[in-house]
Amino acid sequence: MSTVLALETSCDESAVALLESDGKNFYVLSNEIASQIDAHAKWGGVVPEIASRKHLEILPSLLEVALSKSGKSIKEIDAVAASVAPGLSGSLLMGSITARTISALHGIPFLGVHHLEGHLASVFLSAHPPTKPYLVLLVSGGHTELIKVGANGCFKRLGYSHDDAAGEAFDKVARLLGLPYPGGPGIQRLGERGDPKRFQLPKGRVSKPEGGFYPYDFSFSGLKTAMHRKVESLKADSLELPIEDLAASFEQVVAEVLVERSLRCAIENQLNTLVLVGGVAANRRLRKMMIQKASDQMIKVHLAPESFCTDNAAMIGAAALLRLLFVPRYSSLNLGVSPRWPLEKADLLYQASPPF
Ligand code: KG4
Ligand code: ZN
Repeated sequence: MSTVLALETSCDESAVALLESDGKNFYVLSNEIASQIDAHAKWGGVVPEIASRKHLEILPSLLEVALSKSGKSIKEIDAVAASVAPGLSGSLLMGSITARTISALHGIPFLGVHHLEGHLASVFLSAHPPTKPYLVLLVSGGHTELIKVGANGCFKRLGYSHDDAAGEAFDKVARLLGLPYPGGPGIQRLGERGDPKRFQLPKGRVSKPEGGFYPYDFSFSGLKTAMHRKVESLKADSLELPIEDLAASFEQVVAEVLVERSLRCAIENQLNTLVLVGGVAANRRLRKMMIQKASDQMIKVHLAPESFCTDNAAMIGAAALLRLLFVPRYSSLNLGVSPRWPLEKADLLYQASPPF
C-alpha cells in the first residue's frame, strides 16, 4: 500500500487530500476543498494576491482536517505532492512550499505534479479506469485540449483551443445571462429546462494559413460574440430574455463541437478509448452526448467521476500515485513553480536538476 498526501492550490481553490493505492485500486481517504469564490466575487474575477493570501490562511486547518478524517498520522505517509504548474504563480507557491516544508520536516519524499496530469489522473478515481493507449478530452476553465496518452504513458497534444477555453466560454456566457461565477453549473441548471434547438449558434473552427481547417482545434470566441449579439437584439426588442433556451442552445453547441472533434480525432488516430476530464466534463449534457455518439462509433468512453472533475487535491494525489507505483520517481526540493509548462514536459518535474 502507498499513501500520499496531496495539495492543490493552482487557482482559487485550496484543497488537501489523502489517498492510498494497492497498485490496482485508488482509495480516497479524505478530500477537503475550500473555495474562495466569495472572496473574489465582488471583483468580477480571481485576484491573484487575494488567492495566495487565502491559500496561506486556510492550508494549516485544511491539512489538519484532511489528516484527521483519513485516520492516518503523518508518519504513515509515503510521499507528499503538490501542483507546481501551470496556474497562478503565487497560489502554486503556497501549496508547493507547504508540501516541501512537510517533506523536509518529516523526511518524506516530495512530488511536484503538473496540474493537467492531475486532471488526467482523475479518471483513475472512477470504478472503470481506462487502459492505454487512449485519447483524453480535457475541458476546464483554462484548457480545452485533446491529448493522446500513448502505450508508453507519454503525452502528446493533438488539439487545443486557439482562444477561450470551453469553461471560460461557460463563465462569460453565464455572466451575460446574469448568472454567478463559475458559470457552468448555472447554465446547466437553466439549460435542463430549455430548448437546445431554439437558437442556431456557430461552431467555431480554426483556419489553416494554407486553406481548410485544423480538424482537432477549437475556437469559442465567435460563439461568445454570437451569444452577446443574440442577447443584445432580444433586449433591443424589449423581449424578456428566454434564458433557459439561450443556456440550452449554448450548452448544446459546445457539447456538439467537443464531441464531434474528439471522436474524429480518436478515429483518425486509431484510438478506441476516449476519456473525459476537467471542470466542464461535469456537464451532464456533454457526458450524455459523448457516451451516445461514441457508442455509435464503437468507441469506449471513460468519464472522470463528477465530483473529481473540477479542481481538487485527490486528482493530484492520483497523479502522484501513478508516478510512484510504476517507476518510482520524486522531485527535487529545489523545484519551484511555473505559470506555464507544457504537459508533454511533465517528466522533467522529476529530474534531479529541476527545470524551474
Ligand atoms: O477544472 P476546473 O475546476 O478549473 C480549471 O482547471 O480551470 O474547471 C472550472 C471550469 C469553470 O469554467 C466552470 O464554469 C466549469 O469548469 N464547470 C462546468 C460545470 N461545472 C464546472 N461547465 C459546464 N457544466 C458544468 N456542470
Ligand atoms: Zn484544473
